[in-house]
Amino acid sequence: MAALELRLREASPGLLALPWHDHLARWDPGAVAFRDLPVGPSRHLVRFVEADGLLWALKALSRHSALREYEALRVMEARGLSAVRAAGVALLGDDAVLVTRYLERSWQYRRLLLRLPDDAEGHRARLFEALASLLVDLHRNGVFWGDCSLANTLFSRDGQVVQAWLVDAETAEFHPALSEGQRRADLEIMTENVAGGLVDVAARRGALAGAHDRALAEATGVGERYQRLWELLHRRPTVASGAPDPVAAHLRTLEGAGFAVDEVRLEPAQDDTGQLRLSVEVAARRFHAERLRALTGLDVGEGQAQVLLGDLRSHRERWQRQRHTTVPESLGAREWLSDVFTPGAARAHAAQHHRGDPVQAYCDLLEVRWLLSEREGRDVGDEPALEALARHLTPTGAAAEVSVVDVPTEELPVVVAEPESPPDGHRDPTSPPT
Ligand SMILES: Nc1ncnc2c1ncn2[C@@H]1O[C@H](COP(=O)(O)OP(=O)(O)O)[C@@H](O)[C@H]1O
Ligand SMILES: [Mg+2]
Repeated sequence: MAALELRLREASPGLLALPWHDHLARWDPGAVAFRDLPVGPSRHLVRFVEADGLLWALKALSRHSALREYEALRVMEARGLSAVRAAGVALLGDDAVLVTRYLERSWQYRRLLLRLPDDAEGHRARLFEALASLLVDLHRNGVFWGDCSLANTLFSRDGQVVQAWLVDAETAEFHPALSEGQRRADLEIMTENVAGGLVDVAARRGALAGAHDRALAEATGVGERYQRLWELLHRRPTVASGAPDPVAAHLRTLEGAGFAVDEVRLEPAQDDTGQLRLSVEVAARRFHAERLRALTGLDVGEGQAQVLLGDLRSHRERWQRQRHTTVPESLGAREWLSDVFTPGAARAHAAQHHRGDPVQAYCDLLEVRWLLSEREGRDVGDEPALEALARHLTPTGAAAEVSVVDVPTEELPVVVAEPESPPDGHRDPTSPPT
């Protein structure tokens, strides 16, 4: 038998105790705490295991691929990219198991799209926007994905938007910077894969008529979203010297899109007299998240932070009107955190039967309250919004509508030992019948 070589980044006794000396496919479900979580379409055997109170994804693949992917995920983590977190690798001769932290509260596109109405354009658009944004982030960091697809991405809710996470880095390559050709090639792979993934969903729904054209249009649309974002980040407008307005406007646009500005550069435009060329280096897309953290200590997603900062601002403005005095930002933030957000998040989370995440529940509450108020033409207050959340009666198209498809991990079944039929990692226990 081949000798075992195990590398773990977390000294978890539960992980260490797993039967690594045997092939994953042969692990005894009676002895290992497998969890029957849904797995997206995959080439390799993927199983989920609970150890020390945490969930881990285990993927069986060749030694070469496992080492490559382990390294790739670590580099992505170091660069602050949104990818699943590599936790370890077990090598057994030519075979290996890659261990990643299970990405909590994420969905695969198939589960998500099958649970939403076919014409849920707003939800689909959020998914596509997230994927385009992930690809832009990877490319900005010199990562060629090589297999961008819906199946290789996980999605999580982030305020009123969606965040995409890379889950399969087997083909990823790192370069100092990507050439036009490399980016184009990656976009072509993405378009083909995404169209394929969407046709697959349509087929499972039994709605293949017109599905190919729609899928291709939507996949092409992801590329267009990518181009728009790429262009925004690489725009280098010329400005007249001594004219700060266009510069400020450009910076506001970037920050509005969530990019924290790292460096603003103004250099003489080559062919011009007095004209300057503006270029902006941006950091990770966490502008609002960093701002909220500085003010309140809350560490949330960029999309959630945008929503929460808006809420904080409107409360502070109200307090200032009521008290006829300025409320300093730091004081307003402390008050908002203790008197508004903390109780509000607890109530919203309770209304959603403690499913999902309290921060997201509060964002849902704000959104639903806003939509209901708009419909009524007056502020309806929290109660009707909490009621709507509790009864899953959120207005159609609301980002909060998706909260009903969230399945809390705690409620997912544990795999029981059944020697004749070992756990099938590819079963989705909550899939609609196909
Ligand atoms: N860390 C993780 N958290 C949540 N789900 C995961 C994780 N790793 C893998 N998965 C699930 O397993 C599926 C297959 O993983 P992937 O790495 O794409 O394997 P393959 O190389 O076989 O395609 C993913 O689509 C996802 O549903
Ligand atoms: Mg994959």
